[in-house]
Amino acid sequence: MNLAGKKIVLGLTGGIACYKAAELARGLVKAGASVQVVMTEASRHFITPVTMQALSGKPVYTDQWDSRISNNMAHIDLSRDADAILIAPCSADFMRKLVHGAADDLLSTLCLARPATVPLLVAPAMNVEMWENPATQRNAEQLRKDGVSLLGPVAGDQACGETGLGRMMEPEQLLEDLSAFFHPKLLAGKKVMITAGPTFEPIDPVRGITNLSSGKMGFAIARAARAAGAEVTLVSGPTALPRPSSVTLLPVTTAREMHDAVMSQIAAQDLFIAVAAVADWRVASVSGQKIKKQEGQIPSLQFEQNPDILAAVAALPSPPYCVGFAAESEDLLAHGAAKREKKHIPLLVGNIGHQTFGKDDNELVLFDEQGHHRLPRASKDALAQTLIKEIAQRIYRKPSA
Ligand code: CTP
Repeated sequence: MNLAGKKIVLGLTGGIACYKAAELARGLVKAGASVQVVMTEASRHFITPVTMQALSGKPVYTDQWDSRISNNMAHIDLSRDADAILIAPCSADFMRKLVHGAADDLLSTLCLARPATVPLLVAPAMNVEMWENPATQRNAEQLRKDGVSLLGPVAGDQACGETGLGRMMEPEQLLEDLSAFFHPKLLAGKKVMITAGPTFEPIDPVRGITNLSSGKMGFAIARAARAAGAEVTLVSGPTALPRPSSVTLLPVTTAREMHDAVMSQIAAQDLFIAVAAVADWRVASVSGQKIKKQEGQIPSLQFEQNPDILAAVAALPSPPYCVGFAAESEDLLAHGAAKREKKHIPLLVGNIGHQTFGKDDNELVLFDEQGHHRLPRASKDALAQTLIKEIAQRIYRKPSA
């Protein structure tokens, strides 16, 4: 997450989710943003300006008539200076105020006064019935029409004891969506499918064969593609990673499940990026019961070939633009170039060294029809963004794309 140099006005309105705004302010500062907090009167019943000031590192504004702004035009100064305004949490009542162009407190006035170039993002947070009420739904629709970005809400347990849509998105997800907002939209309008993580091939109900893939690189690419404006479907084997924001996640376990999930939706895709470490083989006859240990008997397993998902996609009559990954333990340059040709794909990405599993950084080499070039060691997030740029350049170079 990189928000270096970005000036963000963080607006808080009344709602129990204000407690999450504290962590959000902290995350924004950590991501390099300069954060100006503006609080409504209602929000101050839930969290104090002292807390928000300590976390944002700046005095908080609460009042239209704040004498710290010499020209008494806080609403103008604060909105002109911002790269984005994020209202989190945004109450049902504040949504109403935005829809009607209200200007009866500092936060609503600065939203109304913001120039068209300053994006307004709101993270609704309220009780499920309030969110589902037709009045709120009308307001949400109107805000979208007015060009306001709605982040969430998400479903789950609510502070009031009820369950359903209305929870504010978690601070981590809001940060992801906000930073995505500032990325160039290189893949706008494109549909991208990504496979990630390991597969797990069962031996019996409690045992199986898998590999060390953590899914970090595939998930980073999914986030980068989404930040670049793509509609992303992520088909993932078992991982411990959080679901990336605004991405369709199809969880699978085995290679065959991954193959079927991919094939069921591949026709609609413009781009297919196969990052998963798919098991090449599965156990031929999976035991329905746990195999018991018997003195002096060591079981042996027979294997069957799993489908090669990437090769199957690349062999379709009109395939999406295909990108493969390769983890080799030796001679990457020779194996990488050969694998690209064998799989009939335009671009193959090699991991330099096979010790990348589970790490947060990586070093890659790209193989295409012109040869190969390296992407130096960087975080998986940074590499994912560079890779998306490289891919975007190539698909727009293709006359058919
Ligand atoms: N891949 C796939 N389905 C498989 C095996 C691999 O889609 N059954 C994809 C991987 O996601 C990766 C690429 O193919 O993008 C290369 O995977 P890799 O395991 O390096 O190559 P293999 O084709 O399995 O060859 P080998 O294991 O012999 O190196």
